[in-house]
Amino acid sequence: MKAVRDAVPIDAVVSEYLQLRNAGGGNLKGLCPFHDEKSPSFHVSPAKGLYHCFGCQEGGDTVDFVMKIDHLSFTETIERLAAQAGITLRYEEGGYTPGRQQGERTRLVEAHKVAAQFYAEQLDGAEAEIGRAFLAGRGFDQAAARHFGVGYSPAGWDHLTRFLRGRGFTDKELILSGLSQDGRRGPIDRFRGRLMWPIRDITGDVVGFGARKLRDDDNGPKYLNTPETPIYRKSHVLYGIDLAKKDIAKGNRAVVVEGYTDVMACHLAGVTTAIATCGTAFAGEHVKILRRLLMDNSRAKVIFTFDGDAAGQRAALRAFEDDQKFAAHTNIAVTPGGMDPCELRLDKGDDAVRQLIEESTPLFEFALRSVVARHDVDAPEGQAAALEEAAPIVAGIKDSSIRHQYAVRLAGLLGILDTQFVVLRVGQLARWAREREARGDGRSRPAARAAAPAPAAGPAAPPASRGPALNLRSPAHRTERELLKLALQRPDLVAPAFDAYGEDEFTAPPYAVVRRAIETAGGVALADGDYLTRVRDAAPDDTVRSMITELAVESIHAKTVDEIYAGQQLVQVRLRAVERRVREVQGSLVRLGAQSAPDHLAAVQNELWVLQQYGKALQERGAAAL
Ligand code: CTP
Ligand code: MN
Repeated sequence: MKAVRDAVPIDAVVSEYLQLRNAGGGNLKGLCPFHDEKSPSFHVSPAKGLYHCFGCQEGGDTVDFVMKIDHLSFTETIERLAAQAGITLRYEEGGYTPGRQQGERTRLVEAHKVAAQFYAEQLDGAEAEIGRAFLAGRGFDQAAARHFGVGYSPAGWDHLTRFLRGRGFTDKELILSGLSQDGRRGPIDRFRGRLMWPIRDITGDVVGFGARKLRDDDNGPKYLNTPETPIYRKSHVLYGIDLAKKDIAKGNRAVVVEGYTDVMACHLAGVTTAIATCGTAFAGEHVKILRRLLMDNSRAKVIFTFDGDAAGQRAALRAFEDDQKFAAHTNIAVTPGGMDPCELRLDKGDDAVRQLIEESTPLFEFALRSVVARHDVDAPEGQAAALEEAAPIVAGIKDSSIRHQYAVRLAGLLGILDTQFVVLRVGQLARWAREREARGDGRSRPAARAAAPAPAAGPAAPPASRGPALNLRSPAHRTERELLKLALQRPDLVAPAFDAYGEDEFTAPPYAVVRRAIETAGGVALADGDYLTRVRDAAPDDTVRSMITELAVESIHAKTVDEIYAGQQLVQVRLRAVERRVREVQGSLVRLGAQSAPDHLAAVQNELWVLQQYGKALQERGAAAL
C-alpha cells in the first residue's frame, strides 16, 4: 500500500479537482473542495505527501483525499490509484477478492471502457437508425445520447467480441466481463441489436451495461443487463451516480427513479440528482451509497418516484424495513396519470418533472394517506376501519416523537377530532409490539404486524375526554378544524371573510371557543407578528390554549395551501351552517302549521327562500358568493 501511496504525487491527484498555486516553501494552496470558501486555505505539501485545510481542518494523505472526495472505500481507492500509477496489485488479506488474478479489475474495467466507445460509435451507423429513432421518440437528441454515453450493439454474433480480441483481451476475460457469453463455437456477444446504456460506478468507470430491446424478432427481455461479475454487482450499482454524486452531496438530496430513460429525462429537466437501480429493487447497499454522499445530514432527503398503483403498498412496506432512520428521510412522488418521469417530460415538459420532485410527500405521511384513501372516512365504519389499519403502521415507528407526530396527523387525516384518542390507540399498539418483541415472538417486524389483522378488541377503552366533547367522526368538525387552522396559520388567506363568521357556525363547542378567542384578539384582518400570542392570551383556560397551539402547528391538509383551498373551507363551513338553519326553519314551518298568522308564515317562508338561494349560490359560485 505504501508503494501505491507514494507512486501518485499528491499534487497531481488534487489538481484533478482544484487549481493549485504556489504557497511558498515548496507548498501549494487552493480553494478547499470540502467546504465553501472564497480565499484558499487548502494547503498541499508534495514533499510530505499530505494536505490540510486551515479552514475546515480536513487533512490527510493521497488515499484520504481520494476516499473523501470521491466517496470511495479504502480498497476502491487503492485500486484506482494503483491503476493510475500502473502498479499491479498483489492482493493480500482484506484485498478485494483473494485468489483472483492480479489486475483483474483493471482488465475488466478496461474492456468495458473499450466496449462503451465501440457501442457509442456504432450509434452513428446506418444499422442503428432504429436506436436513434427510439431515443428521439423518448425526447433525447444526439447531445443527450452523448452526455450519457448511449450506444448501439450491432446485430451480428460477435462484432464486439472480435473487436475486443483485437485489442488483446482473452476469451476468458471477455466471458468474465459479461460482455461475451459462451456460444457453440467460442464466445459471442451478449448484447446484439440493442440500445446500450453504459452503467458507471461512482468514480465514472463503466462496469456494465443496460440494453434495451429494439426489434420484434428479439426474443430476449425488454431490458437485458450485465450479469453479476467481479466488477458489476447489481445490488451495488446506481445508474447515474457518477453524474449525480456532486449535486447529491451538495444539495443533500437524491432522487430515485425506475429506469435509464427516467434518469436521463430528470437530468435533462434539471433534476441532476436522479439515479436508478439497474433491474433490481432499491435495497441495503444502495442505501449505504447514498448515505456516504448525504453524510447522514439531518436535512438529507431521498425522493422516490412511482408511476401509480402498487406504489402505496411498496412504499408502506419500505417504510418499515429495518432502516427507519432512512425511512424518516424518505419522500414519495407519484407521477400523474401513471406516467414515468420520461413520459411526463415528453407530455408536460421539463417544468412538470421538476414540480413532481418539489411536491413529494414524506413517506410516513404517504403510507397513511394511501390507507385512508382506501376507506370512506366520511362514514363511521370506514373511519374505524382506516384507523385500525393505519394505527399499526404509526405504532411501528420507533422514534417516539415522530410516532406521536404521525398519530396526530393520522387523526387529522381521518377527521377524528379527539387527537388524544388516536394517540392513545397508537401508543397502546406500540406497547403491545414492544411486549411481544420482549417476549421474543417470532414476528417482531412491524411490517408483518401491519399486514396482519389488528388484535381483537383489547382494552381499548375510549379515552377520558378532556374539555367539551368533540364528535370524533363529524366531517363538519373536520372542516371547521381546517378553517381554524387556516385562520391561525394563514390569516391572510381567510381575511376578511372569516371575521364575519359567527361562533355558532362552529358546531364543535371547543372550536366555537377558539373562534371567540380569535375575535377577542382582533380577528384575522388585523393579524400581525403578535397575532398568535394575542389569540393564545385570549383563551379562557389552558385546555383552549393548548387547542389553539395544536391548531396553529398541525399541518394543513392540502398539497397547496392557497386562496382556493381556503375558500373551499370557508364555503363548506358556511354552507353547513346555512343547511342547519334551513332545517331549523323548515322545522318551525311544520310546527307553525296552517293556523299561524299569514304574515308570520310568509316571513318564515321568505327566510327559508333566502337561505336556500344563498346555499345554492355557495354551491355554484363557491367563495365568490360569500
Ligand atoms: N428493467 C429491467 N428488465 C426488464 C424491464 C425493466 O431491468 N425486463 C428495468 C430497467 O432498468 C428499466 C427499468 O426497469 O430501465 C424501467 O423499466 P420500464 O419502465 O419497463 O422501461 P422504461 O425505462 O420506461 O423504458 P421504455 O421507455 O423503454 O419503456
Ligand atoms: Mn418506465
